[in-house]
Amino acid sequence: MSQVTHTETDARADGARGEGGGRVLIAPSILSADFLDLRADVRKVARDADYVHVDVMDGHFTPNLTIGPKFVSALKASFETPLDVHLMVTNPEESIDWYLDAGADVVTMHLEALTHANRAIQRVHARGALAGIAVNPATPTCLLRDVVEDADLILIMSVNPGFGGQKFIPAAVRRVREVRELADELGAHPLIEVDGGIKTATIGEVARAGARMFVAGSAVFGAQDPAAAVRELREAADAALA
Ligand code: DX5
Ligand code: ZN
Repeated sequence: MSQVTHTETDARADGARGEGGGRVLIAPSILSADFLDLRADVRKVARDADYVHVDVMDGHFTPNLTIGPKFVSALKASFETPLDVHLMVTNPEESIDWYLDAGADVVTMHLEALTHANRAIQRVHARGALAGIAVNPATPTCLLRDVVEDADLILIMSVNPGFGGQKFIPAAVRRVREVRELADELGAHPLIEVDGGIKTATIGEVARAGARMFVAGSAVFGAQDPAAAVRELREAADAALA
């Protein structure tokens, strides 16, 4: 199912408020794709995925280095699937505009790296994109209280950022529930996204906890048929919510 026309209104409506609320969104991470044959790999999932998830790592915030805005603009020029750009960088405020200029549809920044989270969200909104705030596994979810009403999306990391193919950290389930409860308490409707170790065996419990957007790298690009893997993840999440 392609969501090439996903808009801000759609994403807010997709918000993960309450059990069963909101549609399931699957975002394959190109971190596990073939970087020398990225076009071919993205083409395999472009139709079934709701977003293409782009992991930007700077070698400082993460113990790994990946790609920058040139890749984002190249993807934008080649595919209609919206781009979910996950900035795992220090000082994201310095580089937000690079990714907005490159055509990011969602720009997600880590709370741990932001000095002025509210201002950064406003800057993304001013350019018509969706603003996400991510937290690492050891960052208390209560720190999201004062961004949960402003952000379109809250990303709960279910691995420590830096690498694909890591094992899902089970505490992410409780952390998703905490964010959902916090949002409910404040009457906010952020989309809750989970990233790391998402497979058919783990997607159901985070869906039931309130997540509606799921990043999957190795489970998709490590599969024989990546498009079928996207469909299987969606089916597993839908089944858990049924
Ligand atoms: C980790 C990245 C993830 C990663 C997920 O730092 O943010 O997006 O690609 O990979 P899997 O699904 O293999 O855990
Ligand atoms: Zn990511």
